[in-house]
Parts: sequence; structure tokens; C-alpha cells
Amino acid sequence: MPLTGIQIVLLADLLLLTYSCLPYSGQWNRKNDREKSPLSDGVSSENLRTHLRQLTREPHVAGTEEELDTARYVRDKFLEYHLDSVKIVPYDVLLSHPDREKPNKVYVLDEAGDIVFSTLGYQKPLYAPEESNHRVFPTFNAYSAPGQPIGDLVYVGYGRKDDFEFLLSEGISVKGNIVLARYGKSFRANIVKFAMEYGAIGVIFYSDPMEYAPHGDALVYPDGIYLPDMGVQSGTVKWTDGDPITPLRPSVPGTYRIPESEAELPRIPAQPIGYREAKKLLENLAGAEAPSRWQGALNVTYRLGPGFVRPDWKVKMEVHTENSVKTIHNVIGMLHGSVEPDRYVILGNHRDAWIFGAVDPSSGTASLLEAARLYGEAAKAGNPPRRTLLFCSWGAEEYGLIGSTEWVEEYANALADRTVINLNVDGSISGNKTLKAAGSPLSFQSLYSTARKVRNPNPEEVKDGRPTVFDTWLHNVPSENSDFPLVENLGSGSDYAPFIHFLGIPSIDITYKGGEKNYPMYHSLYETFHLVDYLLDQGFHYMKAVTQVYVELTDLYTNSVLIPFDVRDYGKFLRRQSQDFWKTFGNLLEKHNVSLVSWSSAIDNLTSAAEFFHGEHRESLDLDEPYQVRRFNDELMAVERVFINTMLPSGNRHMIYRPSSSDSYKGEVFGNLVDLLLESDPDWNEVKVGVSIIAQMIQSAADTLMGSINVRGF
Ligand SMILES: *[C@@H]1O[C@H](CO)[C@@H](O)[C@H](O)[C@H]1NC(C)=O
Ligand SMILES: *[C@@H]1O[C@H](CO)[C@@H](O)[C@H](O)[C@H]1NC(C)=O
Ligand SMILES: *[C@@H]1O[C@H](CO)[C@@H](O)[C@H](O)[C@H]1NC(C)=O
Ligand SMILES: *[C@@H]1O[C@H](CO)[C@@H](O)[C@H](O)[C@H]1NC(C)=O
Repeated sequence: MPLTGIQIVLLADLLLLTYSCLPYSGQWNRKNDREKSPLSDGVSSENLRTHLRQLTREPHVAGTEEELDTARYVRDKFLEYHLDSVKIVPYDVLLSHPDREKPNKVYVLDEAGDIVFSTLGYQKPLYAPEESNHRVFPTFNAYSAPGQPIGDLVYVGYGRKDDFEFLLSEGISVKGNIVLARYGKSFRANIVKFAMEYGAIGVIFYSDPMEYAPHGDALVYPDGIYLPDMGVQSGTVKWTDGDPITPLRPSVPGTYRIPESEAELPRIPAQPIGYREAKKLLENLAGAEAPSRWQGALNVTYRLGPGFVRPDWKVKMEVHTENSVKTIHNVIGMLHGSVEPDRYVILGNHRDAWIFGAVDPSSGTASLLEAARLYGEAAKAGNPPRRTLLFCSWGAEEYGLIGSTEWVEEYANALADRTVINLNVDGSISGNKTLKAAGSPLSFQSLYSTARKVRNPNPEEVKDGRPTVFDTWLHNVPSENSDFPLVENLGSGSDYAPFIHFLGIPSIDITYKGGEKNYPMYHSLYETFHLVDYLLDQGFHYMKAVTQVYVELTDLYTNSVLIPFDVRDYGKFLRRQSQDFWKTFGNLLEKHNVSLVSWSSAIDNLTSAAEFFHGEHRESLDLDEPYQVRRFNDELMAVERVFINTMLPSGNRHMIYRPSSSDSYKGEVFGNLVDLLLESDPDWNEVKVGVSIIAQMIQSAADTLMGSINVRGF
């Protein structure tokens, strides 16, 4: 008997209903972004806690035996979770380690050259048994030059370019002197670079209690989350990403390594110390009072120097940190896509830590492992992902994103062709206040929609009417003039950077954070399991929530028939950012006959192309026609790629945003142009070239969405 139209519709509804009631059903064919992933409820706080406990027993600095042990742990888990292929991928790269026998020190010397004061060179164990582990390195900054400079001390505040310029305007030069800089406002490697450029012979870093222990001694570790007075922030002072002796090339056997002397590396010693020790330097410092914005929370009047109150006293650094080639390890686990095996969704997190890394990165490693378990088990149970999932545990991120950069360089073409998105977590939690996210404008909607699907782990806030992670995120991190939370620009500082800035692969970075700009225990000895388990996230509810967001994002990008990018947000982003840029530089540009007409017209064109694409074009699609679906998705994937300037011999080729030259952590919009325009005598031809390139790229993005090119001519 032939079915009537209505019967067919009913039957179809019935089938759909049955289908969507099956566990994990619809995964291959997810057509509704509002649907929750069947996997995210499976995220287990207990598993997260167990992984974190295991990963933080030993220090796991890149290039050490313990780091390889963590790689084996991750590999074994990936295998246990039924991933289809699991590899430990080694690279031999230039690393930097201190000398266990000769800790780095900072001294005050008297007129006879005798030591009046010496720093300790290591951090004192305070609470957790592992803090006494003999494999903990003495304190150091990676890639510091070794050396023993002696000189007068100058306090340079936060060590930004403006700070050095301010000193010059006060008649104080750092040339031939050693500088004392406080952490907290920019990437430490940028500080060392500026110190070198201004002629300093050494850099001493410390963390001022104003930023790192604002509530005095009572709330410092192990009783609270703030940095104790002998806590020291380690970290790299190399400002380039990847292996410094194979720039833009993968460090595989056979690749040419440039001599270390030609590599872009710090040429002066740098060394971090505790604030108890910094106080000894600051209280002896002579010279004018530092401006109020440089005064900190130590009970001293901060002065600029140069030199000490006793003019014959000097500061001396003794740094034994050395560079050498060592092996690092990525672990790459793959789960083959069942429908689109040649389309990749990459989940990334680094594994190496400065010491125990309970926040950075091991909390994120726990989240990555939990995501791998859920997707691996679903595949085993007959529900493989639609697209291929790559679970990437990167090595040597702390040394400047080395594991991810080398891997991206090795597989650049395949990754650029096939990758839908890179979902990064570094530390998945550093506090329990709010979600924080950075991402490509294409991904904004996916961030909002997934954060809405996850319950707010804070019961007080739920009572206050903020039931989801989205609500608390919007409450704590609102964007300007909008009903949406702020998604930050992608700068650098974690492994998404080579994907977005070198290849134009859209990326997302998420974490749960506290109220501070940065968590106080960052990169110190005290970033232990106790910090997370007892002080930040008792019960692992917050880590569970952010892992659920991660699993939801993965599901959305892996299993949606249409890739959930929204180009309309790119149009709005470009318009807003361009207007800000023109506001700052418009007059100057006009004065030099730089026309913004094409740029502006291209944004108009992208805006209407995106409207067409997500409106009329989307509606005309038959989702059951794989060719139509693939074409739509290919066009979406092409959008971000358009902004890569392949002519640039640099890892930062994205012309819309890139790591700021003065603070790599920050994503600077139109960074190449900004740099040109901030020069004292800009090269106006180059500016015009830059403006043309940007206009052309935005227009190309619009053309990409129109399906066929609208050929100009008559
Ligand atoms: C700060 O230092 C001064 C002078 O050394 C001392 O008299 C005062 O007690 C100190 N204040 C605190 C809060 O430690
Ligand atoms: C959240 O973090 C604060 C420190 O910022 C801590 O006092 C509090 O106990 C934490 N909450 C939970 C549930 O762990
Ligand atoms: C700008 O263009 C005008 C008109 O063509 C010309 O007179 C002027 O010299 C140009 N200015 C600069 C700075 O190039
Ligand atoms: C924008 O589109 C219009 C209409 O197709 C075209 O005339 C104009 O040249 C385009 N703008 C750019 C920058 O290509």
C-alpha cells in the first residue's frame, strides 16, 4: 500500500525519534547545535583526579627522563582507551637546563668583592612530600645565557618598552648594568629582549607580592593560593617559537641545524628570584624614588638606581644554565573518522611542566585523557566520530611551543588542507571563578553554545540565577556592548599558536580561572597536586565542568554535518577592529595618502557574503547530499586560511591577528601594520602594501563564500 504524504512524514519523525533516543545516536549526523553531547555527562571527576595525581608525582621538565615517563603514561592510556593509532613522536631540539651541582645565584658584593648577600638558588619545600624530590632543578630561566656579570642594579618596573623609555627620560640608562624586573605585565622573553636592546648585561626577575601575594603572609601556600616569599616563577626567556636552530623547518633527522651562534637566542643571563630576596636588593637600591605605578607591596621605598646606597657595592649574577640538544616527545593518538576520515579535529595539550605542573599543564592533560577515553570508548561501542580525532600531547611547550611547532612544520601541508579546528587546553583549571576563552571569530558561536550546555559548578551562583558555565562567564568576563562574554584574541603562549599563526587553522583555547590576572603559583615549586586538590577545586567540580565544555566542543566540531563556524562574527569582528585601528591611525594614514576605501569596501562585501552564506545558501542545502555538504564545509574551512600571507618568512603569517611584538601573550590585531606604524619613521610604501594585502585578503574571504567568483571586467 502506497504511503500518503502525511504517513511518510510521521514515519520519518518516528525514525528520527527512535534514532535520537539510542545512546550516542545521531553522532554521525548531528544537525542541531543545541543538542547536548551524549558523552559529556560521562566526564568523571574521579578520573581527572587520578590522572592529576599520577602526572604530578615527579617533576616533568622537557628533555628529562621523567618527561618521557609521562609520555609513556599518556601513550598507555590512549591505548587502553582504544584509540586506533598511538605514537610517541620524538624530536631532537635545542633545550636549556641548569646545573644541578651549581645552582644559579644572585649576590650583593661589598667594596672588597666579598659576598654580603646571596640568593638561595632553589625553592624550599613547604608542604607536599614531592617538593623535596631530588630531581627538582635549581631555579632558572630557560635559554638564559650562562655568565657571571657584575654591575650596578637598575629597577625597570615591569620591563616593558615604555618602562625602559621612561628610565631614559629620567636620564637613567641600563647600558652595562644589571636590571631588576618584576613579572606580571608582559611575557618575560620580551623583557629580556628589550633589556638586551637597551644594553643591559643581565636580568633578574622577581614576583612582587602586590600581584602574587596581595593578602600578606596568611594566605600563602600551603594555606592559600598565594605565592610564598621564596616562591620563584621559572619560564623561558626565548622569544621565538619552536626549536631555535631549525626555524620554520621540522627538527627531524636530516634537517639542517643552524649554528647556535646564529640562532635567535638571549645573549645575556637571566634569573628569577623570590620576593624575600628581591627585597634585599630593593632596600639597598639608591637613586630617585620609582614612580607610584612601579611601587610594590614590599615594605621598602622602591628606587630606580642605578647602584646601591653604598656606591661600591655591586650586584653579581652567577648563571650556569646551558643550552644543549635533547630529545622531546609528543604523543599523538588517532581515532579514525567514519564518514570524513580526511577531516581532522585536533585536541591539544602540552605535557611538559616547569616542575610538577599541577595546573600548567597537568590539569589539562587530565582533561585531554578524559576526552580521549570518552571518544575512544564510544568508538569501541560502535559510535566512532564522523571526522577524525587527533589527541595530541605536546612536549617542550614551556620552552617555546617546541613539540607542537615542530610537528606543525613537519606535517604543514596535510594539516592545512585537512584540519577543521584545533581545540587547545593548557592548564584546564587555574582557579574556580569563570571560564576564559580565546578563539578565532569563526568559533564564537560554538563557544557560547557549548558553555550554555554545561552546568555551572558553583552552587552559590546557580542559586543567584546563573545556572550554566555561560552565565558565569558572561557575568565575569562581559564583552563591550554585547550580550556575549568576551572571547580573547589568539596571541601566543600555548600550542594553538603554530596552528593559527603559521597555517591559519582556526583555534580555540579554554581554561577555568580565578580572579587574578594570572594564578599566583604559576610555574613555581608549589604548583602541586595539593594546590588543585585542596585549595582550588575540592571535588574536581570545576575541572569537570571545563572538561565537559571541551568534550562538547569536540562533539560539535567532530560530529556536526555542517562545521559550526559562523563567518558573520568574522565580519563583525573585522569591522569593529578596523574601526578601532582607523581611530588610532586614521589621521596619520590620511596624511600620507593611504587609502582605506578598499579595506572598508571589502568588509562590506564580507559582511553581505556571510549573510548570504549562512542565510540563503545554507537554506538551499540538502544535508543528505554529501557533495553539497562537503562543498559548504570546504568553503568554511577556507575562510581563515585566506588570512595567511605565505610570502612572510615567519611563523606569524596571519595578517588579522598575531602575537604582539611587545608582549607575545597578547593577540595584536593587524599586528604587522601596527608595528610598521609605531616606528619613528614608518616606511609608507610598506604601509600601503600592508593595507592592500589586508583589503585583498578580506575580499578573498568574501569571494570564498560566494561559491563562484564574480569575475571583474566588461
Ligand atoms: C616597614 O619597615 C619599617 C622600617 O624598616 C618598620 O619600622 C615597619 O615596622 C615595617 N612595617 C611592616 C608592616 O613590616
Ligand atoms: C575556590 O578558590 C578559592 C581561592 O581562590 C578557595 O578559597 C575556594 O575554597 C575554592 N573553592 C572550591 C570549591 O574549591
Ligand atoms: C598626497 O597626495 C596629494 C595629491 O595627489 C599630493 O599633493 C601630496 O603630496 C601627497 N602627500 C604625500 C605625503 O604623499
Ligand atoms: C566589493 O564588491 C563590489 C561589488 O561587487 C565591488 O565593486 C568592489 O570592488 C568590492 N570591493 C573590493 C575591495 O573588492
